[in-house]
Amino acid sequence: MSTATESTAATAGLRGVVAAQSAIGDVNGEQGILIYQGYDIHDLAEHSTFEEVVFLLWNGRLPEREELTDLKARISANYEAPAEVIELMKQFPKTAEPMDVLRTSVSMLDFYDSEGHGTDREHALQAAIKLTAQIGTLVTAWERIRNGQEIVAPDKSLNIAEHFLYTLRGTKAEADEVRMFDIALILHADHELNASTFTTRVIAGTLADVYGAVTGGIAALSGPLHGGANTNVMKMLIEIGDEDKIDSWIDTALAEKRKIMGIGHAVYKTEDPRATWLRKFSQQMGEKTGEMKWFNMSQKIEKAMFEKKGMYPNVDFYSASTYYLMGIPLDQYTPIFAVSRISGWTGHILEQYGNNKLIRPRAEYIGARDQKYVSIDER
Ligand code: COA
Repeated sequence: MSTATESTAATAGLRGVVAAQSAIGDVNGEQGILIYQGYDIHDLAEHSTFEEVVFLLWNGRLPEREELTDLKARISANYEAPAEVIELMKQFPKTAEPMDVLRTSVSMLDFYDSEGHGTDREHALQAAIKLTAQIGTLVTAWERIRNGQEIVAPDKSLNIAEHFLYTLRGTKAEADEVRMFDIALILHADHELNASTFTTRVIAGTLADVYGAVTGGIAALSGPLHGGANTNVMKMLIEIGDEDKIDSWIDTALAEKRKIMGIGHAVYKTEDPRATWLRKFSQQMGEKTGEMKWFNMSQKIEKAMFEKKGMYPNVDFYSASTYYLMGIPLDQYTPIFAVSRISGWTGHILEQYGNNKLIRPRAEYIGARDQKYVSIDER
């Protein structure tokens, strides 16, 4: 941008730049506070349900009983993914990454939603409901397809958390696990202008449809610096393998300037409030399964990173060992993030459509000027 008065170096990665107004959620990085529509995340995790949070993010207020019943019915009525999409998924290479499968299959849902096109609230909300219902279905369907198992038929009587675990495993999960998973979905639902949510807003800002915006969000979420970190945390724990090896492993990684996955945050400079809950779940799952190793290792890494770098764990750090002990395959952790974040993405997309302005920033030009074209033979 030729008129720039300050260098973009000061805003590398757009840190600290306010790029939108939003009433959906806010992160106070200094104090470690996360709110959705004014409600503290701890209050919601303690008392609410994922479906209620979905309503909150889309409507700006908690639902009345009838409204919640209606939303739950509309979501569960849409659990089943179009048969055409499932059939095509069966043709995908079995080695395909689950996030790539999710990105492609969510994009395909667009073809089979005759009412979900258009950027007016009614149509966009219709797409949001279908996506919230079906992202979990697609994730679990892929797990079963790639393992040569039958897909589990949807059960409308189950909430999103329970339905996910049921269609993944083919058996109903115990109530404490369902509640833990429900809270994990609440914790991952929204996080202001994170990379994937910003992506969805940029796409929605062009007035492209909800499916296109969410497809872009999934691609952004898949990266290891964003949602992909949770899978990498578990890979790291497995690679280290033993509590006694943690210190030397971390020292080597830091000396080689490698990032420790699940540690640090672009906004939080103190404990990520979501990590507080997931630490508890990791411990609970360890106690339930009698396998404390992963929780103990995680705690030791957390302590070492605080002592060595003054850094804290983020949302991905303890979700890794929690999901691992729930028997969820490593490469499905990031898709689970999407099963929850669809609520925040679609909330932001609805907000963007409601008061749209094309998002089109400028770049500070640092390239050459006044170059004269030289023919290829003379270069
Ligand atoms: N492990 C080791 N060092 C880390 C680190 C980590 N996880 N995260 C940041 N740092 C260090 C950087 O090396 C850098 O050190 P330097 O100043 O000596 O070069 C400094 O902290 C600042 O890092 P930077 O990447 O610029 O900070 P950021 O605010 O942009 O980083 C993340 C935010 C999340 C991208 C980063 O912390 C990270 O990559 N974490 C691991 C991936 C992860 O868990 N992502 C999920 C986020 S919810």
